[in-house]
Amino acid sequence: MAVEVREARILIVGLGLIGGSLAAALRAAGYGADGQGELLACDPDAGEIARGVEMGLIDRGETRLESLVEGVSLVVLAVPVMAMGGVMRELAGCLERAAPDVVVTDVGSAKAAIRRSAIDAFGRMPANLVLGHPIAGSEKSGVAAADPALYARHRVILTPEPDTDPVATARVRRLWACCQAEVLEMAVERHDQVLARTSHLPHLLAFSLVDTLARQDERLEIFRYAAGGFRDFTRIAGSDPVMWRDIFIANRDAVLASLDDFEAGVARLRCAVESGDGDAMLATFDRASHARHYFESLLNQTSYQAEYQMQQHGKLRFRASPGGKVTGRIRVPGDKSISHRAIMLGALAEGVTEVKGFLEGEDSLATLQAFREMGVAIEGPHQGRVTVHGVGMHGLKAPSGPLYVGNAGTAMRLFAGLLAGQAFDTELTGDASLTKRPMGRVADPLRLMGARIDTAEGGRPPLHIHGGESLTGITYDMPMASAQVKSCLLLAGLYAEGETRVREPAPTRDHTERMLAGFGYAVHREGDTCWLEGGGTLSAAPIDVPSDISSATFFLVAAAITPGSDLVLEHVGINPTRIGVINILRLMGADLRLENEHEVGGEPVADLHIRYAPLQGIDIPLDQVPLAIDEFPALFIAAANAAGTTRLRGAEELRVKESDRLKAMADGLATIGVEHALLEDGIDIVGGGRAEGANYGGGHIDSLGDHRIAMSFAIAALRAGEPVDIDDCANVATSFPGFIDLARRVGLALEEQEAA
Ligand code: S3P
Repeated sequence: MAVEVREARILIVGLGLIGGSLAAALRAAGYGADGQGELLACDPDAGEIARGVEMGLIDRGETRLESLVEGVSLVVLAVPVMAMGGVMRELAGCLERAAPDVVVTDVGSAKAAIRRSAIDAFGRMPANLVLGHPIAGSEKSGVAAADPALYARHRVILTPEPDTDPVATARVRRLWACCQAEVLEMAVERHDQVLARTSHLPHLLAFSLVDTLARQDERLEIFRYAAGGFRDFTRIAGSDPVMWRDIFIANRDAVLASLDDFEAGVARLRCAVESGDGDAMLATFDRASHARHYFESLLNQTSYQAEYQMQQHGKLRFRASPGGKVTGRIRVPGDKSISHRAIMLGALAEGVTEVKGFLEGEDSLATLQAFREMGVAIEGPHQGRVTVHGVGMHGLKAPSGPLYVGNAGTAMRLFAGLLAGQAFDTELTGDASLTKRPMGRVADPLRLMGARIDTAEGGRPPLHIHGGESLTGITYDMPMASAQVKSCLLLAGLYAEGETRVREPAPTRDHTERMLAGFGYAVHREGDTCWLEGGGTLSAAPIDVPSDISSATFFLVAAAITPGSDLVLEHVGINPTRIGVINILRLMGADLRLENEHEVGGEPVADLHIRYAPLQGIDIPLDQVPLAIDEFPALFIAAANAAGTTRLRGAEELRVKESDRLKAMADGLATIGVEHALLEDGIDIVGGGRAEGANYGGGHIDSLGDHRIAMSFAIAALRAGEPVDIDDCANVATSFPGFIDLARRVGLALEEQEAA
């Protein structure tokens, strides 16, 4: 729905492309159409004013400000950055008297300099002055080029100060929203740094490249042969020189800082080209090419990663409607645990590792990107295919900044072990959820091996790992059954003197051990203890990643609880350390068969065929808990539909997953009206047990940004009486990209919505 601007009289100072396009956008939105609201402009060029009136963009205008300010409610300063000071001094002399309720904003692209001009002109930052900057433009100039769509779907950054009047900010927001722009706020300093990198530096480079080439060939002969690459790279060198001179003067320091970074990058590439270092070139180009695609997807808003993800997080909502049945034949994405490990071992191996079935989810992509940042050339992923050019056990390079692993606990914990053995320092950071998760469980035993690791308070991320320490193997009795801790220590053990032995209190997933063996590295096991000897090497081996049983689980449970369902999930990993969900569902009475069992690259797989059958509540055997640890949120939904009570104990690890999953599920079950009792290490769930119709109601669930909580309540809706709305679902993309589409394909009524 169109936003309406309620300003009585808007004055645009500077009627060039930017000011003219604002007027055009306001007109297109109907501003002033019925005589309510007047649009004025001031410009030193009387010809521009006349053209603006002729084009119907403004009602009237003048070359002098003073005669226009009477009764204006909103002033937009759209003059070049260096002219702002003069205009503000003129306004300071007349505005307060002539227009007491006025709000002032600007469009300049260097905010600190404009703030300085404002303080000079007004003696302080006025509370009614809201600085802003629309991130839109064109290499054209003048009011004749005004484009009513210039700001549509573009961002406008406002940089209000702590004492800016919130009402003034809201009015400026409304102005831009009316032009269909997306308005966001940030601090002045941050704005200037961001713009220096994303806009000012590229303009500087484009101007410089064209100028350099033009000087080398005075007759400009070379431009005749300049094809797409030159044209694409230099389009912005046609922009307004005066405007850009002003910007570089105004934002000097931030531009210089970004230019320094750029020069260092070019120098590195120069070395690589000079010495014919193809791997270094490939690593840089690959990283850049992926970053560019990633950027493209951000622009198209098809991905929920990085800053965009942070902003959108609270916003992505699922609405799951009751009813339907679950049928068909599908393949869910690749196993997350195996995907992480494939990249890690492939990077450390000698030779090239070809991976098939790689999970293109945000967690495993974070691992992949981290290795790129440590100089590993990685091609793909293209439809699950990834080629990792291994650098050998000692070939990783120091990354230029912290390694950000997003939501991925597996990445952070396994990296901790692997990086403890490197010659360089690293910092590991993650998103808000990961930053709350315990890392002492890996940092403590790594310290016993001689690693130097600093954590934040309470053993939380970020982790600072000091390189160059010599590690010694230890025998470690794990206090909890954790495959991540075990794998972390085995990876550190590769770099340690002597044997590293890990005893697990209960069997946990053994993908690390299997894959190490597949890469020719001997891993031994006796009973509950596994060990390896440090100092060996890995040889690249092909990896076929099976579908993730943890992702398959949502559809297994969906079919298990819904009468009339008959579903086949193809090529699912059925490693014995992962099949707790199959065992538990069968104990509950599910009709679940394994078909086409075979082995791929050291991991067993099968097609899972499930048909609806009534479920019974059970006491979940303790030995199944570590084997189904990620599957409990979905299994709780099975329990909510079973006849009788299901009891889970010994599952305190669920409290430290992507959320406190016992509490998050208990809260959600309470919302939809499922009787339960929450315990410190488990839960009792009383199932509805009906053969038909609803087993509970609907409601509004907070997934707390936990992918598995979100997907569990999405399938719960199959047997709900009312729709289930689930908030904060963007993280589903960490483990299960394409969940919505697959869910719909098999018969769920699931929609994505953007929450208000
Ligand atoms: C994983 C191990 C498990 C699991 C996680 C993946 C792995 O964590 O919950 O999703 O890939 O090693 P813990 O080791 O903390 O049990």
